[in-house]
Amino acid sequence: MNCRIAVFGTGYLGATHAACMAELGHEVIGVDIDPSKLAKLESGQVPFFEPGLEEVLRKNLDNGRLRFSSSYQEAADFADVHFIGVGTPQKKGEFGADLTAVEAVIENLAPLITRPAVILGKSTVPVGTAARLGERARQLSPIGDALELAWNPEFLREGYAVQDTLQPDRLVLGIDQARNGRAEEETRKVYKTLLNNNIPLLVMDLATSELVKTAANAFLATKISFINAMAEVCEAANADVTILADAIGYDARIGRRFLNAGIGFGGGCLPKDIRAFMARAGELGADQALTFLREVDTINMRRRSRMVELTAEAIGGTLLGSRIAVLGAAFKPDSDDVRDSPALNIAGQIQLQGASVVVYDPKAIENSRRLFPTLEYADTALDACHKADAVLVLTEWEEFKNLDPRTLGGVVREKVILDGRNCLNPADWLKDEWTYRGLGRGSVESVSMVN
Ligand code: UGA
Repeated sequence: MNCRIAVFGTGYLGATHAACMAELGHEVIGVDIDPSKLAKLESGQVPFFEPGLEEVLRKNLDNGRLRFSSSYQEAADFADVHFIGVGTPQKKGEFGADLTAVEAVIENLAPLITRPAVILGKSTVPVGTAARLGERARQLSPIGDALELAWNPEFLREGYAVQDTLQPDRLVLGIDQARNGRAEEETRKVYKTLLNNNIPLLVMDLATSELVKTAANAFLATKISFINAMAEVCEAANADVTILADAIGYDARIGRRFLNAGIGFGGGCLPKDIRAFMARAGELGADQALTFLREVDTINMRRRSRMVELTAEAIGGTLLGSRIAVLGAAFKPDSDDVRDSPALNIAGQIQLQGASVVVYDPKAIENSRRLFPTLEYADTALDACHKADAVLVLTEWEEFKNLDPRTLGGVVREKVILDGRNCLNPADWLKDEWTYRGLGRGSVESVSMVN
């Protein structure tokens, strides 16, 4: 049976969720307060780069199952299930999460709900938020206790958002166990197709469900910082962290995924989520439990300065007056997201040390220009490398993995390549007489010996 669904927020999470719920056969209304986003989505354009999403969006706009609106009234009248997919960014000057947008959805929506309905939160929130929002929603709604709030955290990765929504590893549902209403039943209806495909649904209390999400991101961040810490030791000991990662990754208890050493994690999730997690643990009196996350954050930020140092070292000690090509601006490939992007942060630091920096990215130039208008931008990788003293690969786009050392060698001033994501094959570059440096990969000689 099809459900009538509203999704509040049409960013990376909300737009994907709305389109994918329609794809599952439901009738969906996507709601946002930003008219420019709505106009784009209504015309079948995704306001950000997400592979495969535009097709799902267009198909479901065309078949009439998906529409967009700025009207909370329309959504309240239409839907029985209301998903919250708005952002929870880091507060300015503090570690905690800014819940303004999530709270605004409850304040505006709950008073308009006049028949039994379920609100399902998807946004990443500090533990304890859902219980508080549930109480507030019941207070505000004319139907009181017949309005239920449950939490259904989202684990999608940018670049794989459609796949992660339609074929997730698992579904998590936090319910207010004291109330025991229709939340679970409604959620099972929404995800019926997924459940029929044997995707596990784990039902738990509200607090645990909120923690599952933050714990997952904290673990992923820790895994990345662990391998980056090993990279630091490898640099000191003249060893190769990529080989080390392969070797320890064979142990199924460790696993090779998320063990790619390089310039570290960025984006709109991992950095702010570990900070919000520390802040919340502090409020709960459990700050000691998460002090290690401060180290995880520090190791991660240190990789960015290390990349700047390595660049200076590779071109003879100073960046002043040099010309540096930066390939990659997005925080990861297959995304145009530059929020807390290590690549752009490094480009900015290098420029501040007196270099002229030219950046190229297959998809993220427009967003980068808005954030860092003083950097120079090129239309192609080759243009960016023109007369460069060093080429830095800072996002592992397929296009960069396939760069031809010989062609690039024809346009640069010095054949120096720094692999910030350890995504190139050093032997290909060394063969063509480039100086190759990777993060955590020891000296050029030892790398060339292995390869
Ligand atoms: C992350 C989580 O992976 C998702 O499960 C979660 O739902 C999402 O945050 C969220 O909270 O919304 P995402 O931010 O899209 O997803 O990106 P990731 O694929 O996790 O990558 C994060 C950063 O870590 C990137 O900058 C990436 O380059 C870096 N990374 C990743 C490494 O440096 N090394 C690795 O081995 C893996």
